[in-house]
Amino acid sequence: MSGIRVAIIGGTGVYNQALLEGEKEVTIDTRYGTVAMRAGIYKNREVFFLPRHGEKHSVPPHMINYKANIAALKKINVNAILSTAAVGTLRRNMPPGSKVVIDQFIDFTRQRPLTFYEGEKMPVVHIDLSEPYCFEVRKTILETGQALDLNLVDGGCYVCTEGPRFETPSEIRMMEQWGGDLVGMTNVPEVIMAREAGLCYATIALPTNYAAGISLTPLKHEEVLEEMDRGKPELDKLIAACVENIKPEHSCGCKEAGKYWSEES
Ligand code: HPA
Repeated sequence: MSGIRVAIIGGTGVYNQALLEGEKEVTIDTRYGTVAMRAGIYKNREVFFLPRHGEKHSVPPHMINYKANIAALKKINVNAILSTAAVGTLRRNMPPGSKVVIDQFIDFTRQRPLTFYEGEKMPVVHIDLSEPYCFEVRKTILETGQALDLNLVDGGCYVCTEGPRFETPSEIRMMEQWGGDLVGMTNVPEVIMAREAGLCYATIALPTNYAAGISLTPLKHEEVLEEMDRGKPELDKLIAACVENIKPEHSCGCKEAGKYWSEES
């Protein structure tokens, strides 16, 4: 075995990774809760697959135990986390069916825990998010996409809402003016907590629909699922190739950002 461990956090429409050999369920206990994942091998690398909404899409965005999920991936010491996210799009150059390797976010959530560092079990810490997504993992995804001729979009700003409702057209107009490109419900606090834990994390965002008010028709969850199904074979291919290309060592500052993390407290 290479010693390289890669985690995949699957979003809406991504509930399995078909390519794993010797796949089995593992459960990881953390102080925030127990997390079930599928574990297997792909090209000599250990892969852990964690469907964010549960295997049957039973956990809504605002009820996901983000802390337990990231703490579990920290416990098994993954080298990188690749996550997927279904999103609405505000931009014609990121149409439904495209794949965007996002590089910024705006937090529009309201009532979820946003940090491990609450001053009790962990210290009071202010982490830097000038570059919120790991540049090394982003680079691996972009280069892999290029090798597969996939035309990935390099960069985009993800606006995270509380959900589970979709947005109003007025909210979308405001987000557009702020510089938001895509809108979804789960990337915050996942990306923040990954950095707090010192884990390299990047997201492939998959626009499934034009956002409210831009779309000519009312939004439907079924529409999101149908578009995800259409894109799934190509996405599986991309993720598998990314797993193969993740580097054993990174020169980013993600690991260093996790220096305040404490397993004991
Ligand atoms: N808004 C928020 N989340 C989403 C959307 C949307 O339009 N589409 C897919 N996830």
